[in-house]
Amino acid sequence: MNMSIKLNIPLENLQDFGLEESHIGKMVFGHLFIAIGARNILFLRAGDFVTKEIYEKYCKSSIKILSPLDQDAVNTIEDYLRIIKVGSSSEEEKLTAKSDLLLFFRRKCLNGDLSVLNFYYAFKKLFKLYDLDLAYEQYKVSHILNHRAILSATLSTLSALMLNVVDFSCLKDIFNTSFFMDVGLIKQSIPCFHIMQAAEKERLNIGDGKKYLEHLVASDTLISIFDQHPIFSYDMIRRSIQKFSYPEIAKIVKCHHENLEGTGFPSSMSYHVTSKFEQIIHYSDTIIPFNTFDFVYGDFEAIKTLIFQNKDISWVRGKWSSYVAYKEAA
Ligand SMILES: [Fe+2]
Repeated sequence: MNMSIKLNIPLENLQDFGLEESHIGKMVFGHLFIAIGARNILFLRAGDFVTKEIYEKYCKSSIKILSPLDQDAVNTIEDYLRIIKVGSSSEEEKLTAKSDLLLFFRRKCLNGDLSVLNFYYAFKKLFKLYDLDLAYEQYKVSHILNHRAILSATLSTLSALMLNVVDFSCLKDIFNTSFFMDVGLIKQSIPCFHIMQAAEKERLNIGDGKKYLEHLVASDTLISIFDQHPIFSYDMIRRSIQKFSYPEIAKIVKCHHENLEGTGFPSSMSYHVTSKFEQIIHYSDTIIPFNTFDFVYGDFEAIKTLIFQNKDISWVRGKWSSYVAYKEAA
């Protein structure tokens, strides 16, 4: 058996899926393996998109494809979300559904074997991505940004629920805004290595992103892209602004690099003038590294490490409502 991804359950227990379960331009909802003889080889990671080329090459073949996503868990998450969605649900019923959903999250994900992708997939199914073309564009340019988008959208939605946001329209706007938070980095078609390096350095230590770029050739252009990317992201999100129930939520993306002490960019705002929603997506942006992420069973162990053990971002601890909420949830 040849696999580059560690699975905690035997392959023979996995449910079979064919590519016909997916569609061109849509994300696959679990790792897909091709079985060639006795060998199972990973060929699409969870969160990847099915391209036209892949679809045409593999869909009509008899190659066996396996997915580790737990559909029962996805269905459970969807059921809780539907209670929050239904207009006739009382505030008390919505808050109860929210509490049950977070309990499920704690038992099955935070301290269990499910993948964070179960939550992403359920969220995406009910919330919908407002601009699938833009999501596909981001994926084609950078798998790293795509993985960050999946994690960011999921964690921000969970943060909002932990902070008692049970307005379904608001949750789906937060999910979408967080998914496209860094899409401004692809405005120049390809985020170069240096821009991504700067973004990671900035994540670990405020101000280090620009310092890194200052010493490079064409630093003015790179700094301009880096400095303005929250505004670029907003401009790109605005293409689908008619799908937002609360268009002002899309604007929070402009503030995802503003910091506690007014040391952020592009507007040097301080914590005291940022809203709860701005803090939610900034928190997700701060804890998720610029790396590819393996969505597998038990992957929340890696998220917990990011939340609780990363000394380099200790400045965020105790000051951000999302951190406190996650700490309480654990
Ligand atoms: Fe950013």
